[in-house]
Amino acid sequence: MTVIEIEGLRKSYKSGRALDSVSLKVEHGEIFGIAGPNGAGKTTVVECASGLRRRDGGTLRVLGLDPQSDRRELAQRIGVQLQEAALPDAIKVGEALRMYASFYDAPADWRELMDEWGLADKKRAGFASLSGGWKQRLFVALALVGNPEVVFLDELTTGLDPSARRMTWGLIRNMRERGVTVVLVTHFMDEAEALCDRIAIIDRGRVIAEGSPRELITKGRSDSLEDAYFALTGRETA
Ligand SMILES: Nc1ncnc2c1ncn2[C@@H]1O[C@H](COP(=O)(O)OP(=O)(O)OP(=O)(O)O)[C@@H](O)[C@H]1O
Ligand SMILES: [Mg+2]
Repeated sequence: MTVIEIEGLRKSYKSGRALDSVSLKVEHGEIFGIAGPNGAGKTTVVECASGLRRRDGGTLRVLGLDPQSDRRELAQRIGVQLQEAALPDAIKVGEALRMYASFYDAPADWRELMDEWGLADKKRAGFASLSGGWKQRLFVALALVGNPEVVFLDELTTGLDPSARRMTWGLIRNMRERGVTVVLVTHFMDEAEALCDRIAIIDRGRVIAEGSPRELITKGRSDSLEDAYFALTGRETA
């Protein structure tokens, strides 16, 4: 079953064209990676697909819904962790989780989620007092509190320490085991190789390569996904 279907997606900002024509399909229950250089358009794809940003053209279906016209219905069924998110400084971890849970018709048990993500000790900590990695964990827990069928994670592990990163990998695999479809934007090729069933590499607003890690390594005539990434994007600077 195809969960996300994007065809010819276009988007320009005042600064210029961000997405030229992006097409991709994500199947139910897979971990789908999006990689590509800074400014390639990855976050714009996530924002358009999750209904946070209007597209200029192309078709988009997530769980059979149009993220623009069916935004409210879709919001109940997806979770989004954004690359640059913020909460009010004074809000406490527990309060944020409880509040987000209240937005959904059938939320997860936010206390359980708090434990699962190691946030229980931080329950009464204010958002501003959390280090970057702890804020990151809170945002993932918030993305999951609605029991989503599809989760968008934009640079989830950037800024996490190595053990938190590994822990997060385990939790992402758990999501897949529970049948959640995961879209993971990442710059880390070891992470993409370890987690993703398929990966799209985006460059200058277009998908330039797509496939399983193994297929991309073959396409890039390389021995590792990182080398394949450089070969396919032509962006190595050594
Ligand atoms: N809100 C905005 N207003 C104007 N231009 C924007 C905006 N958001 C993104 N852009 C531009 O659109 C292009 C794509 O940006 P986007 O954030 O989607 O890239 P990205 O692949 O997520 O990059 P990164 O790896 O740095 O997160 C860039 O040229 C960026 O400068
Ligand atoms: Mg981005």
